[in-house]
Amino acid sequence: MAGSTRKGKSQNLPEPPLRPLWWDGKVLCLLDQSLLPGQEKILRLDRASQVYQAIRSLKVRGAPAIGVAAAYGVVLAAKKYLHSPPGRLRTEVARTIARLRQARPTAYNLFYALDRMEKVLACVKGTSEELVAALLCEARTFHQEDLRSGWSIGEYGWRLVKPNSNLLTHCNAGALATSGFGTALSLCYAAVRHGVNFHVYVDETRPVLQGARLTAYELKKAGIPCTLICDSMAAFLMAQGKVDLVVVGADRIAGNGDTANKIGTYQLALAAHRHHLPFYVAAPLSTFHPELPDGQAIPVEERAAEEVTTIHGYRLAPEGTKVYNPAFDITPARFIAGFITEKGIIRPPYRRSLKTLLRE
Ligand code: MRU
Repeated sequence: MAGSTRKGKSQNLPEPPLRPLWWDGKVLCLLDQSLLPGQEKILRLDRASQVYQAIRSLKVRGAPAIGVAAAYGVVLAAKKYLHSPPGRLRTEVARTIARLRQARPTAYNLFYALDRMEKVLACVKGTSEELVAALLCEARTFHQEDLRSGWSIGEYGWRLVKPNSNLLTHCNAGALATSGFGTALSLCYAAVRHGVNFHVYVDETRPVLQGARLTAYELKKAGIPCTLICDSMAAFLMAQGKVDLVVVGADRIAGNGDTANKIGTYQLALAAHRHHLPFYVAAPLSTFHPELPDGQAIPVEERAAEEVTTIHGYRLAPEGTKVYNPAFDITPARFIAGFITEKGIIRPPYRRSLKTLLRE
């Protein structure tokens, strides 16, 4: 494969460190991430509108997990029309898919998952019961694929984590953000499986604190040594020689390798470049949007001002303060040493290596 390394191997999967969502046969169960780490509450969603709200309000978040949740949301919509004629079911499910597409704009996995569900809706002919069964089967397959992708990313990437090294990560690209192994953090789980000792610096990730609330939570649960830092400290740590490797996840990757990820990722990449540190992005192929020419074409979500002016309802800034709150930024491909995917690590030039990877 051009510009890539392939070292991982596929086997039966071990139990993932955490399962943030699952289908219990009737409803979608979600660990409410907006309440972590204080409360571990499981939500049982039986309507597509609840899935839509859960995605919008970050109860389920992280690009791969959003995609899997949305796929089950489509199943819930179909189940509602199980006893209606198939024509009615098709119309209502198509409406739900269009609605779910509006839940969040940046994470490409959402659109990838909904495209797949839409294809099943278009291709399967038969009764309403058969349609519901086919949609459920596709959602389950997608869920399993995501679990396996996360695991494979770890198996391909863990050798980047050198013994006794310090890794730095941003946001939460862990088990919680996927079906169970994570992307960036999957390297950590795999490195532990392979007996490597290392330590992780966790950016707190303002404004929503996915690093402090979620990454620190899951690394602590897994017994992986970690230290929480404020986002503004990262460059200084690099200057002090405290960081060996930066690994982050991604929400959408354009055809040339420009990458949207949680706001603050770009400044990390710049700092890593300045300090000659390797900066890697770990993501499944469902995050890649090869038809987009570059990062400028990636839609960046803007979220509510309250995420910046308050923390858990506590006001930090004067009432009425003007706020700009983009949830993601774009890291230019030239700052990225490689993409760790479930099919191997791809290296620049990305347009070519990505094409080869997708063709395979
Ligand atoms: O707003 P969020 O919490 O959904 O943002 C999540 C991120 O930016 C993650 O880094 C990304 O989705 C990769 S998750 C494997």
